[in-house]
Order: sequence, then structure tokens, then C-alpha cells
Amino acid sequence: MENVLITGNMGYIGPVLTQYLHRGDGDYRLYGYDSGFFAHCLTTLDGQPERALAAQHFGDLRSFDAAILDGVGAVVHLAAISNDPIGNAFAQVTEQINITASVDFARQAKAAGVRRFVFASSCSVYGAGQAAACREDAPLDPLTPYAKSKIAMEEALHVLADDDFSVICLRFATACGMSDRLRLDLVLNDFVASAVSTGKIEILSDGSSWRPLIHVQDMARAIEWALGTRETGAFMALNAGSDAWNYKIRDLAQAVSDAIPDTTVSINKDAVPDKRSYKVDFSRFSQFAGGFTPRVGLAEAIAGLSDGLRVIGFDDPDFRQSNLMRLRMLLSHQDHGTLDADLNWLR
Ligand SMILES: NC(=O)c1ccc[n+]([C@@H]2O[C@H](COP(=O)([O-])OP(=O)(O)OC[C@H]3O[C@@H](n4cnc5c(N)ncnc54)[C@H](O)[C@@H]3O)[C@@H](O)[C@H]2O)c1
Repeated sequence: MENVLITGNMGYIGPVLTQYLHRGDGDYRLYGYDSGFFAHCLTTLDGQPERALAAQHFGDLRSFDAAILDGVGAVVHLAAISNDPIGNAFAQVTEQINITASVDFARQAKAAGVRRFVFASSCSVYGAGQAAACREDAPLDPLTPYAKSKIAMEEALHVLADDDFSVICLRFATACGMSDRLRLDLVLNDFVASAVSTGKIEILSDGSSWRPLIHVQDMARAIEWALGTRETGAFMALNAGSDAWNYKIRDLAQAVSDAIPDTTVSINKDAVPDKRSYKVDFSRFSQFAGGFTPRVGLAEAIAGLSDGLRVIGFDDPDFRQSNLMRLRMLLSHQDHGTLDADLNWLR
């Protein structure tokens, strides 16, 4: 049985991944490592998702204790400042965590004998709209500190990778779907939460921009593939998602309003088109990952979210000011004096 360490396991993707790998037939003993920024932001009635782990470690990647890597064969590195709003508000911290500490951590993992390192990268590395759907060799044009950090980490991993330390960077599309630690700062999750709590979806842009999406269960499937494959050599960066899931923002809103009765959609026709518009080509992923490519359909994703929200009694029309938004939660920790200006725990 292989020991797998999942960093950042107490966020949005981590609980879904943990349960997926725990139930699957992969032979993994799972460990978690997290600072716990969102540990209490549970959106489930089923209790702590971490009970599926052999052990949970708490700590900040910026002072990682390499002893945690003893006996670990593979790492899934999710821990990060995980979106543009936080990256913009905490640019230096994003560099510290997503680059400096993450690169040090990868070096420690390699030195400790970890053989497979799976990194959660992002399609946002392609930046502003390009004419064709972006393949992995398309020019990179990161627009934000967050996107820049993902490229810097990929580049460092490329240098570290070798036959004994093989690296797969999954450039994930924007996630969606229910999790035991739901985030509502993701486009489809926001639309469903808005439809459920207010009966309205207001798109501030003209809704014409393209965004590739992936369901969080399908992210877990992609990571399962990355842990097990032996066909990718020392290093590979892959777009993780599916060609069918490149959507226009307004089409996503329409799909939500079709699924949730009495939902109105408003579009700001006069808005300047959003700069962050990109289509992504996922053919390389389907070529390599075969049976592990996305399976969840859009209607299923929307139904899963609205059911999940109903089960937890969600009805907050002000959810954009709530702890289900990652940036809001961090600022709230600071307001309460529990995190300092650089997101270090104070008590
Ligand atoms: N959600 C998406 O749409 C998406 C898309 C592409 C890539 N990704 C990447 O996937 C990963 C996980 O995303 P998520 O949506 O679960 O994010 P999240 O913010 O919900 O979870 C991130 C986790 O990392 C932990 N963390 C942050 N800084 C840390 C530190 N210094 N030390 C230890 N732990 C720390 C947090 O406590 C949190 O539990 C991130 O790297 C993110 O950039 C996410």
C-alpha cells in the first residue's frame, strides 16, 4: 500500500479527493497536511471528511517539517492561495506560499524519496483570450499573481523532475460542484447559490467570455490517473478538463435557470467584454488519461449543487459576504485577530 500525502486537503477539492481515493480500489494510505484556514467551513451534515485519512497534519507550508514525508511515496500538492481575488489582495503571500514554500516543499519531497508529485496547476496560465483553444504549448500569458505563481511552480518542478521524481502538472479548468467544504467564489457554484437564494442570476459582464469548467469529482478522477500512470515520463503538464466543458458564461447562467424553476437571468449588455476569456484544448488529456477523463454532465453538476445546498439549508442571499468565499474567510480571520497580515496564525 502506497502512502500518499495530500497538501491543502482541508479546502474545497481536498475532501472530495480524499473520499474518492478512500473509496476507490487504488491502494493508497492517505495523509493530509493543511494550515486549516477553512477547516471549520464545513458544508456537510456527514461530519469531518478527514476521518478517511490515516492522519491529519496541521502546519504552514512556509515552515514545513520534512519528517512528515517519511515513508511517503506520492504527493498531491493542493495547498495554495487558490484564486485571483486572494492573490491580488495578498500578492507577496501568494509568492511565499505558491512559489517559495511550494518549491522548497517539492525539493524536500524529492530528497525524501517521493517518486510521484502531482501538482494542481490551472488553465489560468493562458491568460487573456487567444484565437484558438489553448493547447499545452500555447503561449502563456498569466494576468495575475495567482496565475504567475502556477507557472513559476511548474517551471521549478520541470527542473527538479527526473526518472526517480516524476511530476505531473494538471492545469485544471475552473472547478464546480458540491464539496464538504464548498466554495461559492467559483462561477457555476455562484450562479446556483444565487438562483437558490434569490431566484436571480445577475451577470455583471456581457456574458460572452469563454470559461472551461471541470466538476470536482472529475478533478479527483484526474488526480487518481496522475497518481497511477506510468506513461508520462519525468515531467508532463496537461490541461485537465474536457472539450465539451468550454462554456460561455451566459450559457452557464441559462443552464442554471433552466434547471432551477423561476430563476431570472440578467446580462449587462453594455459591459466591456471580460478580458479573462479563454477556450482550452483538452485532447492531450483524453489521449493520455483515457478512462479517467470527465464524466459528470452540466445538468448533473447543477442538480448536485442545488441538492447539496438544500440539504444544508442554504438560503443566504448575501453569500458573497460570507465565509463560503475564500477571500472573505481570510479577511474575517484577520478581523478576529487570528491571522496576521501575512496569513500566519496568531493563536
Ligand atoms: N478550485 C478551482 O477552480 C481550481 C482550479 C485550478 C486549480 N486549482 C488549484 O487546486 C488547489 C486546491 O484548490 P481548492 O479549490 O481546494 O482551494 P481552497 O482554497 O479551498 O483550498 C486550499 C487549501 O490549502 C490550504 N493552504 C493554503 N495555504 C497553505 C499553507 N501555507 N500551508 C498549508 N496549507 C495551506 C488552505 O488551508 C486550504 O485548505 C489549489 O492549488 C488551486 O490553485 C483550483
